[in-house]
Amino acid sequence: MRIDIITCLPELFEGPMNQSIVKRAQQKGHVAIHIHNLRDYSTDKHKHVDDYAFGGGAGMVLTIEPIDRCISELKSQRTYDEVIYLTPDGETLKQGMANHLSLKENIILLCGHYKGVDQRVRDHLITKEISIGDYVLSGGELAAMVLADSLIRLVPGVLNDESSALTDSFQDNLLAPPVYSRPAEYKGWKVPEILTSGHEAKIETWRHEQAVKRTQERRPDLLE
Ligand code: ADE
Repeated sequence: MRIDIITCLPELFEGPMNQSIVKRAQQKGHVAIHIHNLRDYSTDKHKHVDDYAFGGGAGMVLTIEPIDRCISELKSQRTYDEVIYLTPDGETLKQGMANHLSLKENIILLCGHYKGVDQRVRDHLITKEISIGDYVLSGGELAAMVLADSLIRLVPGVLNDESSALTDSFQDNLLAPPVYSRPAEYKGWKVPEILTSGHEAKIETWRHEQAVKRTQERRPDLLE
């Protein structure tokens, strides 16, 4: 999978995209992440990528020209499955959407800033709009990183233990059951006996019951 990220704050991606599973996924060749600085596509001598909104109102708007130039250049090099704009008024990211997008070959993520992007970008260049939740961030960069991380760990071969993504919370619309590790007793706090019993089938049943119980208590909406 190839992910092209268009942003006016490329430095923000340096840490999160170069650690842990996402770093390993790139090293193993499962994923290629390319960050594009929107300012490099500005024809303005001051490298401006924003301007005042027509009709007035507070806040700057990312202009269409540098965005179109960047997307057009990328599209001239390969075919993209989706051109995604991160925005609080997009469709809310859920695990099912992450599963679906993780199977794509090439995607572009466009990060908004200030008051957003010129509506013509959304009307003519974007194929999908995604929000990571009902709150407003300073820009789309953190949202793009959240989306990229959620997809990358699902790309086949990225996780060492392939089954571990399948037992994540939200797969099957259930939250994940509790997990324990050594020691079996700490300060008198004990690990549930069933988990050290060695009865595989009973452990599976217990885990499923715990997942249902946790979901009923914390996220009953998932069971509806
Ligand atoms: N940009 C600002 N807030 C956002 C959000 N909640 N989701 C996606 N992009 C955003």
